Amino acid sequence: MKALITAGGRGTRLRPITHTNNKHFIPIANKPMIYYAIEAVAAAGIHDIGVVVNPETMGELEGAIGKGEQWGVKISLIVQEEPLGLAHVVKISQGFIKDDSFIFYLGDNIFVGGVNHFIQSFSNSQTDCHLVLSKVKDSHRFGVPEIKDGRIVSIEEKPSNPKSPFAVTGIYLYNRHIFEAVNAITPSPRGELEISDAHQYLIENGYTIDYSEVTGWWKDTGQPEDLLEANRFVLDQIIDRPDGLMVEGDVDAASELCGKVIIEKGAKVIQSQIRGPVIIGEGTVIENSYIGPYTSIYSDCYLKNIELEYSIIMEGCRIVDVDVRIEKSLLGREVTFSRGKSKPRTQKFIVGDESRIEL
Ligand code: DAU
Repeated sequence: MKALITAGGRGTRLRPITHTNNKHFIPIANKPMIYYAIEAVAAAGIHDIGVVVNPETMGELEGAIGKGEQWGVKISLIVQEEPLGLAHVVKISQGFIKDDSFIFYLGDNIFVGGVNHFIQSFSNSQTDCHLVLSKVKDSHRFGVPEIKDGRIVSIEEKPSNPKSPFAVTGIYLYNRHIFEAVNAITPSPRGELEISDAHQYLIENGYTIDYSEVTGWWKDTGQPEDLLEANRFVLDQIIDRPDGLMVEGDVDAASELCGKVIIEKGAKVIQSQIRGPVIIGEGTVIENSYIGPYTSIYSDCYLKNIELEYSIIMEGCRIVDVDVRIEKSLLGREVTFSRGKSKPRTQKFIVGDESRIEL
């Protein structure tokens, strides 16, 4: 069995972060999102992994994941010239997959609980396609199955009147018949080859589809709020020690750590209160500040005289002397917040396209 992981697309719903970053590199608990997908399939014993990427961020991806050596797997990059849909992703990967069965894993989905049991269900049932479903409140945002007598009888992509409360999540298992489907369907009104249309094709042409429900926790990180929630969930899981602390950096005597806290090596905490779950990355300095629950601060940041919680702060940010607590925030790389010294006292902004500021 092989694996195919997506790391392409445009990430428009995560702008402005995705103007300059591939969304699959946004850190969740200080680890690039795409790593979770690679680790999950590697843990299931799959060694041959194709990662689909857009031409613009191909170099960045290659630099970050290499050929998969760090996970003991073999990664092949597959370039998708334009984001023409998930069924298009499968279509252009036929040369890599050949006649094998494979797991198709959307790299912007975070699953906690691994993928082994889905692979097992697929192998045991000998169906042509196995979908992983999750019951959600807003199924109209997803591919939605219609289920009768325990069988999927139809699937629609983002329907305005969903026929069930289930979402098709970002894990799919296929045998070679999926290529017949992705080669037969035509683009949807939004111009994409939809994976749901490929599934509908399988149903209409007598192929067998079954499903299982997500057993652990799942999030499609389409929106900034989803990233914060995924970060919250993963932070809660990663520290598994009785005292909840993993401190490799320096914490001075005037600081207080409580709850689950990771301080990576080279980080410094000076006269500050850290209330976990929190992770503080390599080389970051926190001074005279409060860092509250569900916050991930990446490497080489400098934070002084601030209060911050429930946020993701990416590499190299500098936040100094902000007198209102910052929360529910997602800061891209090297963002600066500081207090102006000149009179009159005003607020000055240099922000990129599609930034969001709430004062
Ligand atoms: O997350 C589950 C949902 O994923 C399913 O319920 C839907 O049926 C399925 O169509 C998909 O919907 P999204 O709107 O969430 O897909 P999105 O455009 O966000 O792309 C998902 C992943 O695939 C993401 O890693 C980006 C990548 N991608 C996307 C497209 C359209 C590509 O690599 N190439 C593409 O052409």
